[in-house]
Amino acid sequence: MEIVIEGNAFINGDLVKCAIGVEEGRIKAVKKILKGDRHYDFGDKLILPGGIDAHVHFRDPGMTHKEDFGSGTVSAAFGGVTCALDMPNTIPPTTSKEALQEKARIAGSKAFVDFGLFAGVSMNSDFEELSKHATAFKIYLATTTGRLLIRDYNVLDEIFQRLGATNKTVCVHCEDEDLINKTMNPDSLKSHLKSRPNPCEASSIKKVIRSSRGAKVHICHVSTSKGVKLVKTEGVTSEVAPHHLFLNSNVKLGALGKVNPPLREPKDQEALWEALNSNIIDIIASDHAPHTLEEKELFEEAPAGIPGVETMLPLMLSLVKHNKFQLGRLVNAVSEKPNEIFHLNKGKLSPGYDADMIAVDLRKEGEIKGKNLHSKCGWTPYEGFNGVFPRFTFVRGEVVIEDWELTGERGFGSMVGESLGSGAVKVD
Ligand code: NCD
Ligand code: ZN
Ligand code: ZN
Ligand code: ZN
Repeated sequence: MEIVIEGNAFINGDLVKCAIGVEEGRIKAVKKILKGDRHYDFGDKLILPGGIDAHVHFRDPGMTHKEDFGSGTVSAAFGGVTCALDMPNTIPPTTSKEALQEKARIAGSKAFVDFGLFAGVSMNSDFEELSKHATAFKIYLATTTGRLLIRDYNVLDEIFQRLGATNKTVCVHCEDEDLINKTMNPDSLKSHLKSRPNPCEASSIKKVIRSSRGAKVHICHVSTSKGVKLVKTEGVTSEVAPHHLFLNSNVKLGALGKVNPPLREPKDQEALWEALNSNIIDIIASDHAPHTLEEKELFEEAPAGIPGVETMLPLMLSLVKHNKFQLGRLVNAVSEKPNEIFHLNKGKLSPGYDADMIAVDLRKEGEIKGKNLHSKCGWTPYEGFNGVFPRFTFVRGEVVIEDWELTGERGFGSMVGESLGSGAVKVD
């Protein structure tokens, strides 16, 4: 083997002491003992599949003062995320083949971990063409950062029908624009919540599910107990964001806590944990949406969005350490399930899959500090929360984080799907 990684690895739902052999960036074999040119032995420490973050805003191109593909993927790597799917609300938005190709070029030259790109859906795009250049599609049903918005629910039937033909997953930001109170000028988390009340989400999810026959619909950042009930619908998948799990509208974060959909009340927060524990919500995705402290100064004018790609796994691993969350469910929610929804050939420690993994020492827990994180935005809403950061991060067998330090190379990250279709490598 070119590379052998040994430890207490998460294989088929169980922790097993074993050796993982890697050749040409993919897992070639999992055995009791393997010989390798390069050998990493993590003893009894955990080896988990790398995290797949299906919802990030790396702001590149167009808003690179907030983040770019370099800083965004460095953050990802430190947080154990080995693949991130980037949203289309950049400048220009990725609603055309040209914009997608340009973003792929930029990302490919800067990325430290692998990435996929969303195509933004607008009424007159050529979905068939876009599907060749994007990992999945994204629909915005409410105004949020960026200008991608589908206002007219009457066109949804037709859009979903056309998207269904591409066979790609269609992610939807569900808030009903017509139920947002536009006369308010919110100056606090409580009034922001009032202006985008819970029924916004439920109404929007209902309309989407009604229209979506034929398309693979994925509901982004579910945030309400009513939303949870609706995403139980057969064939619909969904995600929850860390900020809706760990924070609520009572926190004293001011504009830093301003996000769409808004932070909700504790009873919604509880419903989300329950839904995540019981597989009703499929995955955790960060909705990493960095804005600078300067932009977040005045509540009324602050853009909505919270950073999270670097802290998502550390926060969850800390819960695992304290037996408050099941390891198997975590791996499923951040690696296995995202792979199934987006077809990435990642997220499993099994022959044929990309050799993306993290080595974790649950004994090494620390306090999260904004100044130690790597997003350009320079802050976190989780200041002082406990986190377990991975000791090593491997992308396709190569070390990107070594002993909590960056050793990866800019431009090593590559776009997912480039090698897809070749099928899994068969080993005995
Ligand atoms: C996101 C952003 O800033 O791009 N903001 C947010 O509040 N979540 C956009 C989005 O996902 O709605
Ligand atoms: Zn050994
Ligand atoms: Zn959104
Ligand atoms: Zn988002």
